[in-house]
Amino acid sequence: MPLYRRPNGIDLPFPSEITPREVFESRRSFMRQIAVGAAGAGGLLELSTSDAWAQASGAQKLAAKANPAYVVMDKATPYKDATTYNNFYEFGTEKSYPAENAGSLKTRPWTVAIEGEVKKPMTLDIDSLLKLAPLEERIYRLRCVEGWSMVIPWIGYSLSALIKKVEPTGSAKYLEFTTLADNRQMPGLRAPVLEWPYVEGLRMDEAMHPLALLSVGMYGQVLPNQSGAPVRMVLPWKYGFKSAKSIVKIRFLKDQPQTAWNIAAAREYGFYSNVNPDVDHPRWSQATERRIGEDGFFTKKRKTLMFNGYNEVASLYAGMDLKKYF
Ligand code: MTE
Repeated sequence: MPLYRRPNGIDLPFPSEITPREVFESRRSFMRQIAVGAAGAGGLLELSTSDAWAQASGAQKLAAKANPAYVVMDKATPYKDATTYNNFYEFGTEKSYPAENAGSLKTRPWTVAIEGEVKKPMTLDIDSLLKLAPLEERIYRLRCVEGWSMVIPWIGYSLSALIKKVEPTGSAKYLEFTTLADNRQMPGLRAPVLEWPYVEGLRMDEAMHPLALLSVGMYGQVLPNQSGAPVRMVLPWKYGFKSAKSIVKIRFLKDQPQTAWNIAAAREYGFYSNVNPDVDHPRWSQATERRIGEDGFFTKKRKTLMFNGYNEVASLYAGMDLKKYF
């Protein structure tokens, strides 16, 4: 099924199928500009970002409507780079291991249990999750605590849609995300690098922020296993490790949950972990970053932006000392 739909509803084959890559790439950024313009005019264009490598991967396509309110104009990271340079320690600690080892991950059937301080606890299978809210394409930057960043056309919807469905009680102040830990499928679990399963958390107002994306796809397709299939979080204003991959449980809690990286090294990885150029990691500076896919001996590093450039979240932290609550 073609994913690329003109505003008049006529389906076209993917531009990459009919156009040389460079032409397609430049047209894609042009299309993004149109999308941003259309937002000003109050409209949404239906278009999907993909690239030749994504096409060649043969992954299942996933239709989504581009949401021009969530587009960064930076060039998207090539699919090949975004899917072969990953952190997913359940498949090993080298950057290439997730792509090499995650083929064994079985992503169907898959369920996510939602429990704790909610009026309607439920267990949703992946098909119900896919249908819970309209799928949007959003182009987000994601910044890893290690000093690299990527720009990825994610597919998903705001986590708030799911939160509203389960009706949190008045006591729900935090969310805890637990991810799959299955020895038969995940060779990295043999190494005691982290306390398994990988667990992450958010404060309720952070989780309700429209930027917080529950993601099921990228580059016009379902998520590849190494990127956190079949469902993960994407929190573009926080360091990448807050974005839990391959989620199996979401718990609503009264108290702040423990998180895998905080348990491993509390001095290095705080609960908030907002991108902040002024708060160095104890072992390295966070003032600059390198963009994956742009590497070269002479490539200048980029300046790290507060909240990774997503200043709309600043009000969530008004009055907080972000050096203390790093
Ligand atoms: N989720 C799980 N389950 N296991 C992990 O090791 N690594 C985190 C995060 N989510 C991780 C995880 C880290 S450190 C980063 S930077 C991002 O995923 C990387 O996401 P990416 O591979 O899509 O760039």
